[in-house]
Amino acid sequence: MLDLWYKNAIIYCLDVEIFMDGNGDGIGDFEGLTQRLDYIAGLGVTCIWLQPFYPSPNHDDGYDVMDYYSVDERLGSLGDFVEFTRQAKERGLRVIIDLVVNHTSIKHRWFQAAREDKNSKYRDFYLWSKKKPANAEEGIVFPGVQESTWTYDEKAEEYYYHRFYEHQADLNITNPAVQEEIEKVMGFWLELGVSGFRLDAAPFLIELTGTDSSEDPYEYLKEMRNFLSWRRGDAIILAEANVAVDKVPQYFGDGNKLHMLFHFLANQNLILGLAREQAQPIIAALKAPPDIPQTGQWGHFVRNHDELSLDKLSQAERDEIAKAFAPDKEKMWIYNRGIRRRMSPLLNGDERRLRLAYSVMLTLPGTPVLRYGEEIGMGDDLSLPERNSVRTPMQWSDEKNAGFSTADPDKVVRPVIKEGEYGYRNLNVEMQRRNPESFLNWMERAIRTRKNCPEFGWGNWQVIETHNEHVFAHRCEWKGSVVMALHNLSSKACTVELDLSDVDAQHLIDLLEDQDYQKIEDNCHSVELEGYGYRWLRVGDSKLI
Ligand code: NOJ
Repeated sequence: MLDLWYKNAIIYCLDVEIFMDGNGDGIGDFEGLTQRLDYIAGLGVTCIWLQPFYPSPNHDDGYDVMDYYSVDERLGSLGDFVEFTRQAKERGLRVIIDLVVNHTSIKHRWFQAAREDKNSKYRDFYLWSKKKPANAEEGIVFPGVQESTWTYDEKAEEYYYHRFYEHQADLNITNPAVQEEIEKVMGFWLELGVSGFRLDAAPFLIELTGTDSSEDPYEYLKEMRNFLSWRRGDAIILAEANVAVDKVPQYFGDGNKLHMLFHFLANQNLILGLAREQAQPIIAALKAPPDIPQTGQWGHFVRNHDELSLDKLSQAERDEIAKAFAPDKEKMWIYNRGIRRRMSPLLNGDERRLRLAYSVMLTLPGTPVLRYGEEIGMGDDLSLPERNSVRTPMQWSDEKNAGFSTADPDKVVRPVIKEGEYGYRNLNVEMQRRNPESFLNWMERAIRTRKNCPEFGWGNWQVIETHNEHVFAHRCEWKGSVVMALHNLSSKACTVELDLSDVDAQHLIDLLEDQDYQKIEDNCHSVELEGYGYRWLRVGDSKLI
């Protein structure tokens, strides 16, 4: 049965390893996560996205998978996984999981077999070359850390291709046996009740480097989609595909390929808009991609678990952002393109701006994707290597290890943030739960309100003209119902004149706002906004006039 639940979902992303430790060994696990399901359900989100939890040597935070059919034993067992999904389901929460099939860890038994025996059926699971290809230094994903995309393997006596780190060998997607294995993996987890996958590194999965294929690589996305939908009609694929806008239609097809794509361009331009205090970048980014099919959906996020990639912006734009939010290039930037900070410190701890940023994200046409810790405005630890700066354990309380684990602090999988305003004694769930004005309580209210506005997820959207360059105003319309969201990106309060000629402005209802504003009067379309203020409004009688 086809089910478009993802059109009005709110997704919460987490990594089991750092969310909650249930058995006191210092490592987050399914037992701990299951205990925290009421917390997650209480936020009002509707779907959990689990980052990789498979057995792994853990050289890329689990994105180096060693076995697709199991659970990293530090995190629990398959039984614990099933118990978790059962309890999630009881609370009305769907679960999607990371599907990392562009590459495997070189510790995976397929790679081990492939390197040892040229005649093994697994040899062709990977991409080999007798000589180092001339372009081996091109297309490196982690510049500064990764040196090449082809590495010599002593045992195989050949070079193997890897888009990412050298311990992640790329699978040969043109090999039908690999495609079959991928289907088996998908089928396995679908049987265990997941509602779909976050497809890791989608553009690289379908690239044909190292193969002699001349087929259209995007056709494979259709095959994946068919398999998924035949097995489970309500399952989705949410792809990580930070691609140029002209490639977007290749990913959605006419509704017969992938269901969702993260809107990287909107994300990067949201940050630029915040830095400049200008609406134009956000508007331009939303308008840039071609229309997507009705069953397709954008996933909107503020920060993910990687660097805040600004690769689609110009160097001058990146410099503007650096000046406003991340001046220390040495410490705060990575891979020549992104910022390794969480959102709250990026905005210098200014909670008005933080609410503004998440308010924009929650109202953008699409489905919001929140990441653990964002709901309390967690900070980062720049002393940790690479992207681990934004991957510190969840801060539950002011108890030892932030309430994340009862283990000795030196046994905890990654240090909790201890010092300063983002330290767990000053910033944690328990504290914010008690404070009605906290960011956590704001986030819960905002999520609840967002769920009441399916227009944002389902509707057609358009910009509302305000004649004020600092104000991003848009409306979404679905089945004759209209909601509007106004965001003042500037620190200065303003009053804007909205062109509401085709809506019944007598019935505007305030849904969510940063403070009590005067009601917008009959025929008067002046709308006040505080500095960094926002207002969500519904056209009350739901009729366009
Ligand atoms: C994208 C993931 O988001 C990132 O964390 C990972 O390093 C690469 N894919 C490789 O799997």
